[in-house]
Amino acid sequence: MFILVTGANGQLGRSIQRLVKRDNINHSFVFVTREQLDLSYFSNIESYFKDYKFDLIVNCAAYTKVDKAELDEKQANSINHLAVKQVAEIAKSNNIKLIHISTDFIFDGLKHQPYSESDTTSPLNIYGKTKLAGESAILSIMKFDAIIIRTSWLYSEYGNNFVATILKLTQKNNNLNIVSDQIGSPTYAGDLAQAILKIINSDRFNTLEKESEIYHYSNEGECSWYDFAKEVANISGVKCTISPIKTEDYPTAAKRPRHTSMSKEKISKAFDLKIIFWKDSLKYCMKNLSTLSLINKE
Ligand SMILES: NC(=O)c1ccc[n+]([C@@H]2O[C@H](COP(=O)([O-])OP(=O)(O)OC[C@H]3O[C@@H](n4cnc5c(N)ncnc54)[C@H](OP(=O)(O)O)[C@@H]3O)[C@@H](O)[C@H]2O)c1
Repeated sequence: MFILVTGANGQLGRSIQRLVKRDNINHSFVFVTREQLDLSYFSNIESYFKDYKFDLIVNCAAYTKVDKAELDEKQANSINHLAVKQVAEIAKSNNIKLIHISTDFIFDGLKHQPYSESDTTSPLNIYGKTKLAGESAILSIMKFDAIIIRTSWLYSEYGNNFVATILKLTQKNNNLNIVSDQIGSPTYAGDLAQAILKIINSDRFNTLEKESEIYHYSNEGECSWYDFAKEVANISGVKCTISPIKTEDYPTAAKRPRHTSMSKEKISKAFDLKIIFWKDSLKYCMKNLSTLSLINKE
């Protein structure tokens, strides 16, 4: 297959690239950054696809600044919704399959049980609303050949993410206060990248005209941001006291759902995926991070 991956400089895009290089995957991949294909311009998207004949698009690009989106709805909507709609239209008219990544923030977090793919969506913030509009556009345009994977609390060896932030903060401070009443499931981008590659190679995905589907993917288990931060500090061995605080004590521009763990039963059964427990994946990622920082110091 000839596969386009957007968002090549992002956490998931970089994680897919690393696996493709490491595992010698038997497909041709093109990884595009924002500089090479800016999805906020309709004309860019149109002319880009005139030049290539892809079999599959994996859309990892997104406007992911959740708080900034509250003041920047137009831009967030343009990337998370309108560009996704245009990509879906191009995919449909050129028989290209699509794997698109969405978020747990399309839920309001009030279920207090793992969400299934058919549960009612009700986003609390602009980011979640624009991501949901992107999902809806895909499903209304592509009755077949699209997969939407909702994920949550993504972190990796790359870029700014919660793990990197906690590592920096615990090195600079003796005490940290972290929110303990928002519960979710961390997702190591390396695991999600692996799952996407397994899906791409599956017979199920490669069946012609397979009905479009939504799936949930995160690591196994759930925790609060406080538990997550404690585990990062625990693995790194840094001495810093981490204390739990309430959401009200850490005001943010965007409202966040309180409890968004998601059931992974559908994706694990459909593609025979083994979902790793969040603490095990965190250890693996942090081991990679410390190896990388040793290499960078040499
Ligand atoms: N991060 C999370 O906690 C989280 C949670 C749930 C779901 N998700 C979803 O998972 C997917 C991957 O997230 P991630 O953490 O890998 O995101 P990320 O690290 O923020 O990467 C997103 C990528 O999209 C690119 N991008 C932004 N605007 C663009 C534009 N106008 N044209 C082309 N590319 C553009 C960015 O380019 P630059 O590098 O140039 O900025 C960046 O490389 C996204 O769909 C996100 O919504 C993420």
